[in-house]
Amino acid sequence: MLTTQQIRAKFIEFFEQQQHQAVKSSSLIPGNDPTLLFVNAGMVQFKDVFLGAEKRQYTRATSSQRCVRAGGKHNDLDQVGYTARHHTFFEMLGNFSFGDYFKREAIQYAWDFLTKELNLPVEKLWVTVFEEDDEAERIWRDEIGFPADKISRIGAKDNFWQMGDTGPCGPCTEIFYDHGEAIEGGPPGTPEEDGDRYIEIWNLVFMQYDKQADGSLVPLPNPCVDTGMGLERIASIMQGKHNNYDIDLFQHLIKRAAELTGAADLGDPSLKVIADHIRTCAFLIADGVMPSNEGRGYVLRRIIRRAARHGHKLGAQGLFFYQMVEPLKAVMGEDYLELIEQQASIEKALKKEEQKFSETLDIGMQEYRKATQKLPPGADVSGAVAFKLYDTFGFPFDLTQDVAREDGRLVDEEAFIANMQSQKERSRSSKQFTQSNQISADLIQALKPTVFTGYQSFAGDAKVKMILKDNQAVDHLNEGETGVVVLDQTPFYAESGGQVGDIGQLKNSQFSAKVTDTQKAAGQFHLHHITVESGVLNNSTPVQAEVDGEYRQKVILNHSATHLLHKILRAALGNHVQQKGSLVNADKLRFDFSHDQPITPEELAEVEREVNEAIRQNFHAQDVEMSYDQAIEYGAMALFGEKYGDQVRVMDFGGFSVELCGGTHVNSTGEIGLFKIIEETAVASGIRRIEAVTGDAAIALVQTQAAQLKALSQRFNVQPANLDAAVESLLSQNKQLEKSLNDILKAQASESLSDINQSVVEVDGVNYLQHVFNNSDLDVLRDAIDGFKSRFEQGVVVLANLTNGKAQVLVGVTKAMTQTVKAGDVIKQVLGHIGGRGGGRPDFAQGGGEANEAELTKAIGQTLEAVQVNLK
Ligand code: ALA
Repeated sequence: MLTTQQIRAKFIEFFEQQQHQAVKSSSLIPGNDPTLLFVNAGMVQFKDVFLGAEKRQYTRATSSQRCVRAGGKHNDLDQVGYTARHHTFFEMLGNFSFGDYFKREAIQYAWDFLTKELNLPVEKLWVTVFEEDDEAERIWRDEIGFPADKISRIGAKDNFWQMGDTGPCGPCTEIFYDHGEAIEGGPPGTPEEDGDRYIEIWNLVFMQYDKQADGSLVPLPNPCVDTGMGLERIASIMQGKHNNYDIDLFQHLIKRAAELTGAADLGDPSLKVIADHIRTCAFLIADGVMPSNEGRGYVLRRIIRRAARHGHKLGAQGLFFYQMVEPLKAVMGEDYLELIEQQASIEKALKKEEQKFSETLDIGMQEYRKATQKLPPGADVSGAVAFKLYDTFGFPFDLTQDVAREDGRLVDEEAFIANMQSQKERSRSSKQFTQSNQISADLIQALKPTVFTGYQSFAGDAKVKMILKDNQAVDHLNEGETGVVVLDQTPFYAESGGQVGDIGQLKNSQFSAKVTDTQKAAGQFHLHHITVESGVLNNSTPVQAEVDGEYRQKVILNHSATHLLHKILRAALGNHVQQKGSLVNADKLRFDFSHDQPITPEELAEVEREVNEAIRQNFHAQDVEMSYDQAIEYGAMALFGEKYGDQVRVMDFGGFSVELCGGTHVNSTGEIGLFKIIEETAVASGIRRIEAVTGDAAIALVQTQAAQLKALSQRFNVQPANLDAAVESLLSQNKQLEKSLNDILKAQASESLSDINQSVVEVDGVNYLQHVFNNSDLDVLRDAIDGFKSRFEQGVVVLANLTNGKAQVLVGVTKAMTQTVKAGDVIKQVLGHIGGRGGGRPDFAQGGGEANEAELTKAIGQTLEAVQVNLK
């Protein structure tokens, strides 16, 4: 029996024998494709090749591509676990022709592989063709000799494949496998086709068009072939199984999941969910996605939570899901080294999310009870409650349903869905990546890729190939106008790999223009964003292109320093450190990387020291072109989530740092001069950021800081080395002074208190006391009020303190009097005179406002007189 791994190898080998280049699976994160959430087919990494926008050295390729279909156009998440063949993660075996062979060979190869290599019996196969595709039907019937009565013609819904709402597409022919009479269902195109008996195994797409956003089909420069066969499906056939989850690979995962959760029944759908989801989650994390609340991270979060919840349903105690990485590594690690290299960080990320969710489960249950305890028995749980549980507490809808069921309730699903709709709008808007740097496909046809000359020189002659204004091709730009220019060759670096685009000048005898930015379209056209400063720029004219060398040089220093930093961080913190983003401009460099705790000041200082040591080593920089595989063998670091062609550029700093990179760099690291870290911060969970400066900017930073230090030492009149001690002694002196001052104030206040007590007046058996202190202490005033209250049975006291024109007023009323006089009313009256706010209990109130001593004394006097009048 062939294992899944053997089938994968056999497929690739077969097509290599037919002169196909074996290409590695790309990352699950589409490189340079803003229209797609995840890679969902083998052709995605070749999209630009189909469109004619990218050329490769081969015209035939084959791959086993990892794919995720969860979220976006192809979304199978909800079916997973409950059907025989749905997966969120799967591998797609494919062969591709880029303007090389077409329908005949594509069909012949598929036929040979299935019937000769895998020895599938002809009578088990069934074929469909697109209803308008006579040619494909003829090839099957007349050239292959396939029985005409087992060929169905099918409409566009199933037999016209497109990648997404836009992009390459075309008619297809599909090969089906008959799983036998024991299973219900009929051949494709019959009313029974939805049964499970006839299963599609291979889709051969004849790529002919580029679908535009308006729905129109623009023919591709050359007809191409894109095929896809699900590895898990063909493995199930080869292993005599009907259900994909019964193949060797899944059985290994399912057995382990059963052990971890304590599940007794190996056929439980929840085990399938876990076996499926661990593949998606592990690979997404390996490819750089982290659980979050939007976009890709949100999809990942939902899948992890779904897996965790199914584990709990099976009886898992504690955290189990992260432990599934180990068995996954055992079955797929040999073919996907990232699982081995990143095992620890994948486990860590899963564990953290699972932990978070287990807290959520408890809180969610409490929230559920709170929301339902007042409902009459049997009443529905509203959609709003279910949505709140879902959205705020991460409580899946099916879990709410489960819980409600036990509680004898139903959940209003319709209302929940309505709430979800607005949620979806939100996640859709988070997917709106910018597209402003695209040139439309029909314009691209007229262009050759821009030749970049800027590795060697900052200036050169070129010819204008296209001028765009508001995305439309125009034949000239007038003085003052802005637009985009494409040249046949250019020294201007176009923004990519984190390095910003060059700025500079374009000119000839008729015009001069400022280049404000350079961007890249379709991976190979440099778009110069310009403003014409004088004259007129015409299409097809020769121009001189001049990069702003000073600007570029600053960028270069930062870029090369980023490579050294990356290398040193990995050595210092561990290989889990992966670049998660970078920005290199003329001012500074910014480097984001995976690491789940803050870097200590000591570690940071050491990293900075080592980068500077590498600078002083003056490593010679060398760039070499080689194949991707050679580069990896050579030890080059590749970045996950980046799209690389088959020929890559390796940047090698004396063997110390070797990285795949298309950017511009120093000749030797000594040029960087100095590397100074500005700060280290967190940007997201598990992701840290270091910002730093180099060269002149680093010198300037050091000089500014030294000047600040010097100025400060001079003020303290000490040597910089003694500054810390001087500050320390100043601070403690200050504390001492504060304390002494307080003591004095208190002593003064209590002294004056005895004087003040002389001024208590008695009117109709009630004692009154008023006084305004200056710069006193509130505690003293409070004590005085308490003293007054304990001395007199009947009395009202108003004390105030003035500090810098601010008045604080305290009112006390003895207990026996609070029926007739309320402290709160008294303070309101006082403050009413001077303007201010206050309040309190009947026997004590407090407030504040602005006044001078005379105003305050008057306000208090008037208030107390009014109290006396009232009491008469
Ligand atoms: N790209 C085609 C598919 O995904 C082969 O079915």
